[in-house]
Amino acid sequence: MKPTRRDTLLGAAALAMLPRASLAKAQASGILEAKPGMAQLMPKDRPETAIWGYGGQVPGSEIRVAQGAQVEATLLNGLDQPTTIHWHGIRIDNAMDGVAALTQDPVKPGERFDYAFTVPDAGSYWYHPHNRTWEQMARGLYGPLIVEEAEPPAYDHDMVLMVDDWRLGEDAAIDEASFGSLRDWSHAGRLGNWPTVNGSPQPEYPVKRNERLRLRLYNVANASVLVLRLDGMDARIVAYDGMPVPPEPLAGTVTLAPAQRIDLIADVTGEEPGLWLAGRENYRACSFPVIGEARAKPLTDAVALPPNPLPTALEMDDALRATVEVNGGAMGGMAEARIGGFGAAYRGEETVAGVLPMRDLAMEHDLVWALNGVAGMPVEPLFSAERGQTVVVKLVNEGRWPHAMHFHGHHFRETKDGAPWRDTILLNPRETKEVAFIADNPGRWMLHCHMLEHQAGGMGTWFEVG
Ligand code: C2O
Ligand code: CU
Repeated sequence: MKPTRRDTLLGAAALAMLPRASLAKAQASGILEAKPGMAQLMPKDRPETAIWGYGGQVPGSEIRVAQGAQVEATLLNGLDQPTTIHWHGIRIDNAMDGVAALTQDPVKPGERFDYAFTVPDAGSYWYHPHNRTWEQMARGLYGPLIVEEAEPPAYDHDMVLMVDDWRLGEDAAIDEASFGSLRDWSHAGRLGNWPTVNGSPQPEYPVKRNERLRLRLYNVANASVLVLRLDGMDARIVAYDGMPVPPEPLAGTVTLAPAQRIDLIADVTGEEPGLWLAGRENYRACSFPVIGEARAKPLTDAVALPPNPLPTALEMDDALRATVEVNGGAMGGMAEARIGGFGAAYRGEETVAGVLPMRDLAMEHDLVWALNGVAGMPVEPLFSAERGQTVVVKLVNEGRWPHAMHFHGHHFRETKDGAPWRDTILLNPRETKEVAFIADNPGRWMLHCHMLEHQAGGMGTWFEVG
């Protein structure tokens, strides 16, 4: 289970004519031990980096199963702090969602937790901790969870590309001094200085001329919004955050907020294929050297993915409506906020009640953000929906920083026409977006910013489905 290139067992010629039957398993079980390890994040002539990873490696093992399969994973905590595993994007049984204090007790050092759940939707998902996520993910704890369609379109290779953005020193060590920096927390989050793909610097994945690839692009950075460009390939976007869309040509760049994914079906047609970070700097994240030819011409087979069993019939007239307004951050003008107090209440500690001025929130509680005037998880849910009810949430960002709003247990879509179903949405400065979903998954679900420093700094709430 290595999360790099996946070769299919069938040859390319057979694939051109035959629909590709899924080779994935109907059941997968294994151990994910969160523990320290070493990784060659910088080129070979530079030192290795001490990381935390599942199995001590980054990314953790690829979990690849058939749609509808049962996944059984035992988390062993080999860290010196509590952790959990959250299965990002899976419409999962609430008890398995892995959110510390909301759906389970965090797993203490040396202890274990058995996760068991089914995966209703095919697509590109992932797993990561949900306790001190800002530190644990920045140190390398994440891995891919791939759910295969029973009958995917024809392609030659399936490649997972997890793009990360580390903050390393000259000695290749993770910059630990800046963990918990309130400056990062109140601004754009922990932006890195060292990109990797699948834990390697500028890796090369050899391909053949006219091969058809399925590329699964992930933004696993703590806070960086990635603007990606794919050169030398003729690509169509076929899914966002796991959910299929009618294929759209990828022209120019595509933006991935933290935690977002896109699936592409791409034909190797051009010169020097590569994936580039086109945003802050123009940087080749990985390349695909062309060695040989797979066929004389690219495939012409249809590329659309089969639909997932996601309920999509929104009932806007009877919808439950809620607003989430982002407050705070640097230059956000927030004078005061109420402390949410969920964690304290959960731990049986005395809650600091009442409204505190911004300065006290920051200095005494590391809280620099609020949602609807509440900093940190509130004791009461944002809303309680009946099972099956349509929920419409207006996300309001009047501030100066982008956010990546993520809902647990459900996919949602913007209410404007033709918007895709997603689990995470980018909310740019001074932007308001209205999203809707069918609250059909019972339990207590988190809604937070996936810029992990923002989440830790107060941008988290939760909702309940009956
Ligand atoms: Cu990817 Cu609440 O998490
Ligand atoms: Cu944010």
